[in-house]
Amino acid sequence: EQDIIGKLPLRGKKVLITAGPTYEAIDPVRFIGNHSSGKMGFAIAETAAALGASVVLVCGPTHLKLSGKTIERIDVTSAEEMFEAVKSEYADADIAIAAAAVADYKPATVADQKIKKKGAALQINLEPTPDILKYMGEQKQNQFLVGFALETENEIANAKGKLTRKNLDLIVLNSLNDTGAGFKTETNKVTFITREGDILPQELKAKEKVAQDLFQFIQEKLYA
Ligand code: CTP
Ligand code: CA
Repeated sequence: EQDIIGKLPLRGKKVLITAGPTYEAIDPVRFIGNHSSGKMGFAIAETAAALGASVVLVCGPTHLKLSGKTIERIDVTSAEEMFEAVKSEYADADIAIAAAAVADYKPATVADQKIKKKGAALQINLEPTPDILKYMGEQKQNQFLVGFALETENEIANAKGKLTRKNLDLIVLNSLNDTGAGFKTETNKVTFITREGDILPQELKAKEKVAQDLFQFIQEKLYA
């Protein structure tokens, strides 16, 4: 792996990455969100830049900072905003990696004023957000398209289903089961599943190392 970093193998390639959570507004002060830290997506962006790629990172709300200045960062809040940014950056990408934890639902209407507390139960109607990765799969020309999947049951079958439905080349299955894997942690336990049906479980490792192995794997696929 040291080798590929030395040789800048992704020079001239554009890598588009989504990262972090999305926040879906309920009213001016509240939102529906999730615990994604953005760390995995940021590690992927830093690694791609280190390999010489031109990197566009579309990220939801996060306090993370990028160490290098060569990455173009587009900050967004909601799934809809992330979708708009991806639509304008996807066509000329060579590799696209969806690491964001996009909200699946958003409030059907956003209250203009802060919702006041009443005695009774409150209902908020939710409607689906756009599936950004599915769009990328539908619009795919020559991009190598990578998704992530977080599953708590039937992990492999569910991840394979997503790979097929979203027309991906590779899906990275995230396991929440193992200590140290998942949200807010420094490490991840992942399995690479390819379009061709290969299933490659990885050791528990630092997110930076997962990112390096991911690009090593992509390069072997692309330039084999
Ligand atoms: N994704 C996306 N846009 C969405 C939802 C998901 O781009 N609106 C992407 C994620 O970034 C991830 C992949 O799709 O790369 C899978 O996300 P996941 O939440 O695991 O799957 P879903 O298709 O949303 O299905 P479910 O949550 O029901 O398991
Ligand atoms: Ca989802």
